[in-house]
Amino acid sequence: MPTKQAYTQSEIQDWLCCNLATALQVEAEEIDIQQPLEDYGLDSTQAMLLVTKTEKMLGFEVSPTLLWHYPNIAMLSQRLAEESAECGTGVTQTQAESTILKPETLDLSAEVVLEPAIRPPSQSFRFAGKVDNIFLTGGTGFLGAFIIHELLQQTSADIYCLVRADDINAGKQKLQNNLESYALWEEEYEPRIIPVLGDLSLPYLGISTEGFEMLAANVDSIYHSGAMLNYVYPYPALKAPNVLGTQEVLRMASLFKLKPVHYISSVAVFESSAYAGKLVKEDDDFQHWEGIFLGYSQTKWVGEKLVKLASDRGIPVTIHRPPLIAGDSRTGVCNTDDFINLVIKGCIQMGCFPDVDYMLDASPVDYVSKAIVYLSQQEDSIGKAFHLQHPQPEPLSHLVDWIGSVGFPVEKIPYEEWQARLINNLSSADNPLYTLRPFLLERWSDEQITIPDLYLQSRRPKISCEETLNALAGSGIVCPPLDSQLLMTYSAFLIQNGFLGVA
Ligand SMILES: NC(=O)c1ccc[n+]([C@@H]2O[C@H](COP(=O)([O-])OP(=O)(O)OC[C@H]3O[C@@H](n4cnc5c(N)ncnc54)[C@H](OP(=O)(O)O)[C@@H]3O)[C@@H](O)[C@H]2O)c1
Repeated sequence: MPTKQAYTQSEIQDWLCCNLATALQVEAEEIDIQQPLEDYGLDSTQAMLLVTKTEKMLGFEVSPTLLWHYPNIAMLSQRLAEESAECGTGVTQTQAESTILKPETLDLSAEVVLEPAIRPPSQSFRFAGKVDNIFLTGGTGFLGAFIIHELLQQTSADIYCLVRADDINAGKQKLQNNLESYALWEEEYEPRIIPVLGDLSLPYLGISTEGFEMLAANVDSIYHSGAMLNYVYPYPALKAPNVLGTQEVLRMASLFKLKPVHYISSVAVFESSAYAGKLVKEDDDFQHWEGIFLGYSQTKWVGEKLVKLASDRGIPVTIHRPPLIAGDSRTGVCNTDDFINLVIKGCIQMGCFPDVDYMLDASPVDYVSKAIVYLSQQEDSIGKAFHLQHPQPEPLSHLVDWIGSVGFPVEKIPYEEWQARLINNLSSADNPLYTLRPFLLERWSDEQITIPDLYLQSRRPKISCEETLNALAGSGIVCPPLDSQLLMTYSAFLIQNGFLGVA
């Protein structure tokens, strides 16, 4: 950390406004110091860059989540100014550097509250093999694009897609651009993909009451893939889209007529330390949430619990828990902005990977989407959960060896050495790991563990997918092996689109 100096609240405030405006490419005057920071919608990378720059300026370590634990810039600047004063006046270097401003802990079980009014209407649910109208969230995202594509292939239904856009045309274009970006668009799809303007964070999904009721009356099933995937924001900043948005989806499912909800959860619901080394099966109930650190994972835990509460009340649901979702096994197309791709790119640029006991538990997006759509069409899936993780995960070290074998010079070094290189040798934001540093290095809880520590094999549950594979038997849907052919498909795409340099 650079030399410390005490900054006043107004200096920090001006600095934050200026840098937030730069990140958002707007004028500093457009930043309102009373506006909640999450309203500005920074993605993980922009948020990490702001944290890194703030640390550099202040000269002490700042928790990435702190930026979203103070309601607005005015209050955050006040807190940082207090910290800056302490650091600038006599707190020793060692003390100051170990000072991390930590958010309060949450009781997640207390967050599981589903409005009493969300319950089935009087008539009972009848499973329909054929559906005419589907409502889908997350259609402008990675998995959502593949689910839309699969639904268009496997059903004759029209798909009403919740989309954040200024008008219907912009919404239509946003959905089309997304499908095109994953090489999935066909002109003939156009009339069957119908944008619905709205926002998961808002009551009634930001749709007018009449529009919401019209959908509730006419839709036959719901696929809820939308969520804010941000590994930096804390729970409160993600609660509206990920938890309250799920509640609104359940409201739609229960209004006028019962319709099944196919909810895209995540294996992150098992991130509690209580499951370390334990076998978890699809239909196991899970109560533990202690030790789930990421706000995103916390919202997935609460979101899934709401879906289970709805199921207990009689709303038909299926729960799909994907692991890390990798690219399309046929074309290699993937979401280059996702965390794992950024880490791989950063490690290749650094020339080294940490030698850690990780399993590469990632499933190709085409497997995940095909499985979700197939399972959603089976009557006996209702009320069940499915695990879509890779049936034969590979050790991360195999991936590193493979990267080396195709010409990228990388070595495996002890984890502590890798961390030290991250701190001492990276000075440029050209390497994606530079902006991820606070996130990768921050120490949490009494155990003082980092986020990467959480994914060590010894801390992971053993997630069984036996019942899911049984349910998929006979469907022809098989998860492609994580072999050199698949890795070649992925790397060819990443090199071709310029994300990775030529080996
Ligand atoms: N990717 C993974 O590795 C992974 C692993 C396990 C589980 N999952 C789950 O799979 C689902 C899909 O993930 P993904 O990888 O497709 O994520 P993604 O590419 O980031 O897409 C997220 C989608 O949610 C939408 N969304 C976010 N906030 C919204 C809001 N306030 N209102 C309306 N829509 C909003 C986004 O719309 P905009 O385009 O407007 O932002 C986008 O369409 C999520 O539920 C995620 O938790 C993903």
